[in-house]
Amino acid sequence: MANVLIVGSDHAGLELKRELASLATELGYDLRDVGTHTSDSTDYPDYAHQVASAVAAGEGLGLLVCGTGIGMSMAANRHPGVRAALCGDVFSATMARQHNDANVLCIGARVVGSGLAGEILKAFLGASFEGGRHERRVNKIDLSNEG
Ligand code: RB5
Repeated sequence: MANVLIVGSDHAGLELKRELASLATELGYDLRDVGTHTSDSTDYPDYAHQVASAVAAGEGLGLLVCGTGIGMSMAANRHPGVRAALCGDVFSATMARQHNDANVLCIGARVVGSGLAGEILKAFLGASFEGGRHERRVNKIDLSNEG
């Protein structure tokens, strides 16, 4: 079964989301796009919550794009089990997966150029969680796991 990437953006992230979605398809991912699908002004939390719900349900990894990526990451991280990482460089994208077991990548379309954004996505999708000591730390992120 192919890996699934659930993508969402607001109007500010629409173009970059489309570019990254086609890159992910080339990399063999099955794409699910929750919107937005037009350049009309819209509200980023509406898409962040849809993507985060699907990721929390184990349906795949997530990609969220807005102007800065900040609002998307704030909204997505309200969902238990979602670890959304706002990345503006390749190293952070790799580490977000290896150390933080991030399951949603957030990118700011007004911050990061499309070439770099593609490299960030490739790094995120190509890395995997290292477990071990990082597992204990990741478990401590959720307040419900506080001892
Ligand atoms: C939209 O203008 C902008 O506020 C939004 O895309 C995002 O940057 C919010 O975090």
